[in-house]
Amino acid sequence: MEALPSSSSRQSLLFFFLIAFSLLLLLPSSNAAVHYHDFIVQETPVKKLCKTHNIITVNGQLPGPTLVVRNGDTLVVKVVNRGQYNVTIHWHGVRQMRTAWADGPEFVTQCPIRPGGHYTYKFTIKGQEGTLWWHAHSSWLRATVYGALIILPEKDKGYPFAKPDRQFPIILGEWWNRDPISVVRQATFTGAAPNVSDAFTINGEPGDLYNCSSPTTTIFPIKQGTTNLLRFINAALNTELFISIAGHSVTVVGADASYTKPFTTSVLMLAPGQTTDVLLTANQPPSRYYIAAHAYSSAQGVAFDNTTTTAILQYDCGCFPKSNPPSFPLLPAFNDTNTATSFSRKFASPSTVQIPSPVTDNLFFTVGLGLLPCQPGRTCGGPNGTRFAASINNVSFVLPSAVSILQAHELGVNGVFNTDFPSSPPIQFDYTGNVSRALWQPVPATKVYKLKYGAVVELVLQGTSIVTAENHPIHLHGYDFYILAEGFGNFNRATDTAKFNLVNPPLRNTVGVPVNGWAVVRFVADNPGVWLLHCHLDVHITWGLAMAFLVENGLGELEALEPPPLDLPPC
Ligand code: C2O
Repeated sequence: MEALPSSSSRQSLLFFFLIAFSLLLLLPSSNAAVHYHDFIVQETPVKKLCKTHNIITVNGQLPGPTLVVRNGDTLVVKVVNRGQYNVTIHWHGVRQMRTAWADGPEFVTQCPIRPGGHYTYKFTIKGQEGTLWWHAHSSWLRATVYGALIILPEKDKGYPFAKPDRQFPIILGEWWNRDPISVVRQATFTGAAPNVSDAFTINGEPGDLYNCSSPTTTIFPIKQGTTNLLRFINAALNTELFISIAGHSVTVVGADASYTKPFTTSVLMLAPGQTTDVLLTANQPPSRYYIAAHAYSSAQGVAFDNTTTTAILQYDCGCFPKSNPPSFPLLPAFNDTNTATSFSRKFASPSTVQIPSPVTDNLFFTVGLGLLPCQPGRTCGGPNGTRFAASINNVSFVLPSAVSILQAHELGVNGVFNTDFPSSPPIQFDYTGNVSRALWQPVPATKVYKLKYGAVVELVLQGTSIVTAENHPIHLHGYDFYILAEGFGNFNRATDTAKFNLVNPPLRNTVGVPVNGWAVVRFVADNPGVWLLHCHLDVHITWGLAMAFLVENGLGELEALEPPPLDLPPC
């Protein structure tokens, strides 16, 4: 009788060690950390452009909290919705290997977190370094719900460049004086284009060129002679942005959390969704210098916000009067497509890469706008009484409303989506020419394109001139792709494949498809789940410029989607 308790305690001790040991084995690496965060989505009063506005924020901050992790770390973010709108959070650019449930797009991988609800996103960063970001992926909430996600190299590993003395996230945003949700609701109701924004912001502040804004202009303090890592993020809703810094050129070293072959430039162009890491050496006379950004607007005759946002790069020597007016940089003209193109063509991987091949799925997607007839009995505000639409291969994407595509797929719910998304446009035409009106009307539907695990996808993204040609920043969830080439006019396989960079193409998650042009990307479908591909101009995703890939599980357990988390929001 006496032996029993001691033997059972020995057993439980053994059991404890066994559990502890197996837990150790489960950890990705001894250096990796787990970061816990609470995101409270709430209504917050903020002062902007002379007035107080109630906006939706995370933890009362604009931009929201900056998350700093290392490659290999795990993030556990509990999102609590205390606001009045549905919300989800998307971790833009995170590969989410086997964790599509944490990706975030509303009605694609999850149902929204309703007011009063919560959901915990859990995922691990694998093989990514640099700058990404997070944003709401529900209606136009990301106008104010966004923040930086900084991924440092693993412990004991350095950057592929000298360690910078200081580093700053520089997040460009877009501001409306009206509630952005009501702006998009009105546009959806009337079919007209939504109002353009009232300001752009840098780290939440419009800067010196707007009314009532100079006292809070963002200032970046730098020290003479030092090297600084500036992590630019374009979080604007609908606007591509040119950025320039007075008196300084910068060296681009990364984009979309991949390192790039360094190049020097005096102007940057970032499309919404893109990030660009640059090194800036403080080698100018100590003073104050403006960082300025304004629109790159590639569409002709389309209204856009033509204001300019500024922040200040300030040498912190205390050796000049703080009242010195900062010098102003030269920004390209709003429609300077040449500068935008020559900038994007400078991107390359730092060294030779193994290009995925041979291609198993050759896809050709037209991306562009369209018009739909007004609903019977209504009057619409689009051109000639129509309503605006947009499509890929003439399919104007419609989100489900009762269950997410991923859940419908997992649970075998029929009638939510079809798997017949076309691999090429239903009709071939002169995509960038004078397109017949008969081809302007897309078909609204919820369709996915199925990919086998391990498929090698080559995707030609062909812009169209329907309604108006425009540069479309196309973003793929859950993947990075190699950008093999881009060009103007119609893609011509016979001649344009010669332009492919099959040596060191850049690896990104968002590609700007040139106005009236094309881009070709390649990726391996090694991540099972449902992954949205869409234009990152929210006005265009609202109109249907999106589709989704359904990537099937592979054979092994490590090639399969994880089971859904128990707290996945109910639909
Ligand atoms: Cu940053 Cu679906 O987007």
